[in-house]
Amino acid sequence: MGMSSNWQHKLMLVLQIVVVVALMASNTAYGVGNFHNDFESTFGGHRVQISGPGNSQLALNLDEGSGSGFRSKKEYLYGRIDMQMKFVAGNSAGTVTTLYLSSEQSTGVHDEIDFEFLGNVTGQPYTIHTNVYSQGQGNREQQFHLWFDPSKNFHTYSIVWNPKLIMFLVDETPLRVFRNYENHGITFFPKNQRQRVYASLWEADDWANKVEQ
Ligand SMILES: *[C@@H]1O[C@H](CO)[C@@H](O)[C@H](O)[C@H]1NC(C)=O
Repeated sequence: MGMSSNWQHKLMLVLQIVVVVALMASNTAYGVGNFHNDFESTFGGHRVQISGPGNSQLALNLDEGSGSGFRSKKEYLYGRIDMQMKFVAGNSAGTVTTLYLSSEQSTGVHDEIDFEFLGNVTGQPYTIHTNVYSQGQGNREQQFHLWFDPSKNFHTYSIVWNPKLIMFLVDETPLRVFRNYENHGITFFPKNQRQRVYASLWEADDWANKVEQ
């Protein structure tokens, strides 16, 4: 029911992205500006639209056929990603926008760092959902509400991942710090597997279908 009313709105996510990945091994940092060079579509076909000067902007679209998504061509072991995003406006209930890092999922023991944004009805706040997987184990969810309307302007959403901690930030404000407590005997921390950067826009009610694409 909720779904059919959503489709009367033009569901569109516009992302303008700045990715800075610091590779710990070489101590080099570089910016990624061109989506054609550094990213590839994961699903949604023509719904992934690259545009702007130097192909620096990417729009993800969601319609009754499918959502859409993309990922980095490279994998990274530790890094920081800053993504400037503008979310679906108006009635965005049922939409899920994701920014996450993940290692190869087919291994069954994959690592993942999730930063997800759940839409809401007009005028109500988006929910931020965070989670961490290590060796295929998750259940480390924490949720927050966004304190501004993320559909009005671009804001910067960041994941910092290093051997000591994982940090989720919004416009440089740390929302959550997830520490590596292996010195205290707790071994739950993604630290061995390289991960790609992923982003997607999809419809939660239809999650089972979308995830296979
Ligand atoms: C929508 O807004 C309501 C009221 O503020 C809040 O309780 C709820 O968690 C929000 N739902 C989502 C999915 O963000």
